Amino acid sequence: MTDTTPTYSGPMRVFSGVQPTGNLHLGNYLGALKKFADLQKAGHDCLFCVVDLHAITLPVEKGALVSQTRQIAAAFMAAGVDPAKSVIFPQSAVLAHAELAWIFNCVARMGWVERMTQFKDKAGKDAERASVGLFTYPVLQAADILAYKATHVPVGEDQKQHLELSRDIAERFNREYGAPGFFPLPEPMIQGPGARIMSLKDGTKKMSKSDPSDLSRINLIDDADAIANKIKRAKTDAEPIPGTVEGLEGRPEVANLVGIYAALSGQTATSVLAEFEGKGFGAFKPALAEVTVAHLAPITARYRELLADPEGIDRVLADGAERARAVSEPVMQDVRRTVGFWGA
Ligand code: AMP
Ligand code: TRP
Repeated sequence: MTDTTPTYSGPMRVFSGVQPTGNLHLGNYLGALKKFADLQKAGHDCLFCVVDLHAITLPVEKGALVSQTRQIAAAFMAAGVDPAKSVIFPQSAVLAHAELAWIFNCVARMGWVERMTQFKDKAGKDAERASVGLFTYPVLQAADILAYKATHVPVGEDQKQHLELSRDIAERFNREYGAPGFFPLPEPMIQGPGARIMSLKDGTKKMSKSDPSDLSRINLIDDADAIANKIKRAKTDAEPIPGTVEGLEGRPEVANLVGIYAALSGQTATSVLAEFEGKGFGAFKPALAEVTVAHLAPITARYRELLADPEGIDRVLADGAERARAVSEPVMQDVRRTVGFWGA
């Protein structure tokens, strides 16, 4: 995977989070989970968090958080994150997130948070009735990252604006408290063909957990038949596959399928197009289904295996929480001292 231009030269620490809501899909896998595993394999110091505090900004079905938290932890591991190397933990088990979020609520400006487009999307027409937590959600996200002084954050394209806010908060904290360089300015890692996977039914909408049509997404738990069927029924157009990336312009559905093929087979879109130029979807779709099933089948199998042992997942989460506290608590001690609280 390609990296962002490095503007930070110290040691690298990777942090990312995924909400325990709904089924994970191919967009989550290519935009986030696969990158997590790749970064860990590259030898980086990584923390991967199941962000349950973020999940309660919208209504959650009673009693569902525990099993959904286990599901995300299992998906991290199935995608290749090794809990012996990376820290996998639930956000609510580490108090630093909520504490630092409060301090950051007093650093971030209303105008900055009001610009966040995800709030507008999620709050919908009746923003007055949205929770205050949904509004300050990106401030909590900044706290997640900076409680560990993380420098790099692998996420999908939709998180770009939240990462910019995290940088603004870090910068303002450092300035306001006269502590230059206290927090690093975290770098988003968004590159690559998997950063924005679109709906299989509408190439202008992102693939999403909340889309009412299950045919719009490939879930991490779908079996080979379901995957092949969804790809077969994916929206396309009547033209053959173009030979160049420019030829994908104005053809969002085709661009998306080519992007998925490229991301899963580890190629560029250019080389995929060179292979399929002039062919129709009758040839391309079965090839795409084959690549997708071949890539996801072992992950899905491992995921199911892990889910069958909830105690095993709980041990990983408990151990991860302890390791996460050991990293964030010294940072929080310094934060309290820097802000100037009594006793710090
Ligand atoms: P969420 O499910 O919204 O908590 O997202 C978890 C991670 O998956 C985040 O890093 C998102 O940016 C990423 N993600 C979600 N949907 C997509 C998508 N359609 N394409 C690429 N990445 C995505
Ligand atoms: N907001 C992210 C999403 O919806 C999840 C998230 C919470 C996150 N805290 C984070 C991602 C910290 C990266 C870093 O997908």
